Amino acid sequence: MKVTISHIKADIGSLPGHSTVFKPVVDEVEGYVKEHGSSLLKSYYISHVGDDIQITMIHTRGTDDEEVHRLAWEAFKAGTVVAKKYGLYGAGQDLLKDSFSGNVKGMGPGVAEMEINARPSEPFIVFMMDKTEPGAFNLPIFRMFGDPFNTPGLVIDPNMHEGFIFEIWDIIEGKKIKLATPENTYDILGLIGSKSRYVIKRVYTKKTHEKLPDENVAVISTDKLSLIAGEYVGKDDPAGVVRIQSGLPAAGEVLEAFAHPYLVSGWMRGSFNGPLMPVGMKDAKMTRFDGPPRVVALGFVYKDGALSGPVDMFDDPAFDGARRTAVEIADYLRRMGPFEPHRLPEDDMEYTSLPRVLERHKSKFEPIEDTPKGKKVKVATTDVD
Ligand code: 13P
Ligand code: 13P
Ligand code: MG
Ligand code: MG
Ligand code: MG
Ligand code: MG
Repeated sequence: MKVTISHIKADIGSLPGHSTVFKPVVDEVEGYVKEHGSSLLKSYYISHVGDDIQITMIHTRGTDDEEVHRLAWEAFKAGTVVAKKYGLYGAGQDLLKDSFSGNVKGMGPGVAEMEINARPSEPFIVFMMDKTEPGAFNLPIFRMFGDPFNTPGLVIDPNMHEGFIFEIWDIIEGKKIKLATPENTYDILGLIGSKSRYVIKRVYTKKTHEKLPDENVAVISTDKLSLIAGEYVGKDDPAGVVRIQSGLPAAGEVLEAFAHPYLVSGWMRGSFNGPLMPVGMKDAKMTRFDGPPRVVALGFVYKDGALSGPVDMFDDPAFDGARRTAVEIADYLRRMGPFEPHRLPEDDMEYTSLPRVLERHKSKFEPIEDTPKGKKVKVATTDVD
């Protein structure tokens, strides 16, 4: 039986800065979905991480469904009215367009959707991040589906042994490519290591891909707010849905990808590298330097239209070590203040407010005589070691 998982999220205001959602706003969003979604949805779950409200919806209308997208958009609009009433900071922040036009994509909210042939047992985990960008998923998704040191199932389980297909999007050029593991592993890594440009959008199994090319096992929201708005309007704060077990990575294998807090871009003013800290819902608020960036994992099982769960997977002492390391990394990096590589490199700062600050000095730069003008070499013409 075909079923669609649609996860749509947005920041529509928070308190006191970009720290956390406000209960009356979450309640309004939930109330709207409950009241207006009963004929559209089989089930839904409303959650949040940091200042982003997250709507997980189960239905049979397929991906990009106008009515499901409209429901989420209007729920966020209704929540924004309440956010404004309380004077929340950044009320309506991610709703970048005035009116809904058929699809929530390109309008600000992040979308991760997949239409699947539900298995007899259909467990999946929704990962939700705050204070970072879609490329933050590259490393952990690769580890889950492509790295046998993270996922021994790739070695041990005959159903996983042949590898997976990764759909990678170039979000700057608007192009995509499919590459498979293990044969294209190094090419995949060559692309997705550039995480502000190449992002993993979906993962497919090889076995089903020929017969069912749309059947995917992981999907990540790749919506980039700065590309929509043309300027910094907050970070994208991505979410992803990952199916697990029976020929796919086990729950523990997908969680294991977050057991080390690697660096992601975002954090304060969307302008800094910082550790991604796995937390339970009780710690899903942003404090130190508006972070550090956090990821929450909610585990569900789907059956016959109903969702069981969620289980708050990182609310567990087994991830205390990752959290401790994240705090140590934060201590270390913060001492660098506004310097790279804590602060993001110049290219990534293009969409922040820094260019406006530096603009006033632009005309004051004087030429330096007899100095070779520095040009970045784009292509190496000879092999270099
Ligand atoms: P169980 O035998 O407990 O179901 O475990 C199987 C498994 O997938 C562990 O990762
Ligand atoms: P959000 O995208 O989570 O609102 O973050 C904005 C910001 O600038 C935090 O410092
Ligand atoms: Mg915000
Ligand atoms: Mg946010
Ligand atoms: Mg944001
Ligand atoms: Mg068992």
